[in-house]
Amino acid sequence: MRRVILSLLFALVAPVVLAASAGGPKLLKANVDLSDRAGLQNGAKLFLNYCVSCHSASYMRYNRIASDLGIPDDQMKANMMFTTDKIGDPIKVAMRPEDAEQWFGINPPDLSVTARSRGADWIYSYLLSFYTDPSRPTGVNNPYLPGAAMPHVLWELQGIKKAVYHTVKDENGHESQVLSHLEPGTPGKLSEVDYQKEMRDLVAFMVYLGEPAKLVRYQLGVKVLLFLSVLLVAVYLMKREFWKDVH
Ligand code: HEC
Repeated sequence: MRRVILSLLFALVAPVVLAASAGGPKLLKANVDLSDRAGLQNGAKLFLNYCVSCHSASYMRYNRIASDLGIPDDQMKANMMFTTDKIGDPIKVAMRPEDAEQWFGINPPDLSVTARSRGADWIYSYLLSFYTDPSRPTGVNNPYLPGAAMPHVLWELQGIKKAVYHTVKDENGHESQVLSHLEPGTPGKLSEVDYQKEMRDLVAFMVYLGEPAKLVRYQLGVKVLLFLSVLLVAVYLMKREFWKDVH
């Protein structure tokens, strides 16, 4: 019996301990808002303009995005579809996998469910934290994915940050430089606050991508609450009507 209780306790505690020991830099908070339809539309635009040249999202079709987010088909075709002209197609990548391997040394992963595997906060932190690192082939690095093979594709918008290092000594007295924090470097077209807003929209879109039903549930939830409030008024009026004659 004790063994059973102990293993049950372990099963409960282990995920917490493992999550706590995962380490890495602290995550920034994405605070995505799935009820913000304009934000989701903007996220779709950013994603389909900046990301699908390298990444696919093959679990999702263009026409589903159009209908879920209320984007007219012709707008979708004109501004957001670059790898196909059939609105019923899934989001495929333009690049051939062999070319990708050769250019990046790794195939850019499909992003359909990355918001579920990595979490919204991780993607948000990653997209905000590219910094100049001349030792890398792409010229940039990222504290959330050290040695990342992905270039800073949004550098024109954000600019590129600079890393500040501090020196640490190990037990043998060897000194090494470790990343302390990032500070503004080359400026981009957007202010940091505006860039954060764009990335919040992009991540919200990726959360939707990972679980499109969430949006339906969300909208359904609002409708149910609306229905219940109307019902409340009706029931209250009915109660007044019924009790009128009793008094
Ligand atoms: C020029 C090609 C290219 C473009 C454009 C690009 N990426 Fe990437 N991305 C990569 C590569 C290559 C990797 C693999 C990095 C690695 O594992 O070192 C990657 C990895 C990622 C990852 C990490 C996935 C994981 O779970 O490891 C995320 C998230 C991501 N990209 C998001 C984006 C978003 C969002 C955009 C659009 C703003 C974008 N990428 C545009 C090449 C690209």
